[in-house]
Amino acid sequence: MDTDSEFAIEVRGLVKRYRGSRGQAGIEAVRGIDLSVRRGEVFGFLGPNGAGKTTIVRMLCTLLPITDGQARVAGVDVVKNPAEVRRRIGVALQEVGLDPRQTGRELLELQCGLYRVPRPAARCAELLALVGLSEAADRTVKTYSGGMRRRLDLATALVHEPQVLFLDEPTTGLDPASRATVWDEVRRINAAGTTVFLTTQYLEEADQLCRRLAIIDDGRLVADGTPDSLKAKLGSDVITVGLRPDEHQAARDALAALPGLDHVTDAAEGLAVYVGEGAAAVADVVRLLVEAGIRPGTVSLARPTLDDVFLASTGRRIEGGTPEAAA
Ligand SMILES: Nc1ncnc2c1ncn2[C@@H]1O[C@H](COP(=O)(O)OP(=O)(O)OP(=O)(O)O)[C@@H](O)[C@H]1O
Ligand SMILES: [Mg+2]
Repeated sequence: MDTDSEFAIEVRGLVKRYRGSRGQAGIEAVRGIDLSVRRGEVFGFLGPNGAGKTTIVRMLCTLLPITDGQARVAGVDVVKNPAEVRRRIGVALQEVGLDPRQTGRELLELQCGLYRVPRPAARCAELLALVGLSEAADRTVKTYSGGMRRRLDLATALVHEPQVLFLDEPTTGLDPASRATVWDEVRRINAAGTTVFLTTQYLEEADQLCRRLAIIDDGRLVADGTPDSLKAKLGSDVITVGLRPDEHQAARDALAALPGLDHVTDAAEGLAVYVGEGAAAVADVVRLLVEAGIRPGTVSLARPTLDDVFLASTGRRIEGGTPEAAA
């Protein structure tokens, strides 16, 4: 068993076919996925409803049989040694299954018992503090908000100090403040040494939390890399300059000399200048305009968003890509 691998998760040619029921055709929910997640990373799986995110998480957690391909998690083959994989991972699934009549502390202690954690009372106190639930620990779970339940669920997944933590849509359905708290907990858990693999439908979540991410659509990986590298592959940053309509042509002529210029289009109140390295080009844009006797009213720089990456990769915008849109 290889425990020294630099990878927390290694997946090759992963396939899942669900059998059809009552004469219905089966569906191939995962269509041959390759993936490597380094130890210590927060890795994100971004995709719309039905993309195959939960199916992959369940296969990696040994909760669902693999149709084809290989997967190693925490250095262990999920097909050959599922029990050892389960000892090394923590899982918080999309549907939170907490008994509402028990207190947060009771639920955590129960989980410690299941994993035979030594000194359970001390471990529970430590985890409650980690997820910010020390104050609420002795209240029943039915009095918890959605965000508190998610945080308790995170804590239960951590009792046995897993090497890899799987989170399936950890913030779906939460309000913005609770979402930010869960993000903080995930960062803290990762800083304490746990590799995190999370799925999300939220572009902002992937951008904020993940060092690297893969975009999945219809069971296939369509792009992967760091959020910045994915955006950079789209090429251009855009500098928008505010101009009077009678200045447009002179400004276009002046900007033709801009190093790294891709193209210029009309914008709402001026011109949009597409360039490779926007931050470096801002000063040149202003200088060229001023030299041509034009003083732009405003200058702003925007980078492509992950939404643009998704659009470029799939030809569609991700639905419900912001929590507000999903709500
Ligand atoms: N038990 C099952 N039997 C048959 N088909 C299934 C089963 N579970 C999921 N599917 C199908 O597999 C595809 C992928 O589903 P999955 O739940 O993995 O998507 P997801 O990316 O997690 O979506 P969501 O964002 O809605 O949670 C979908 O078409 C779904 O209908
Ligand atoms: Mg899902």
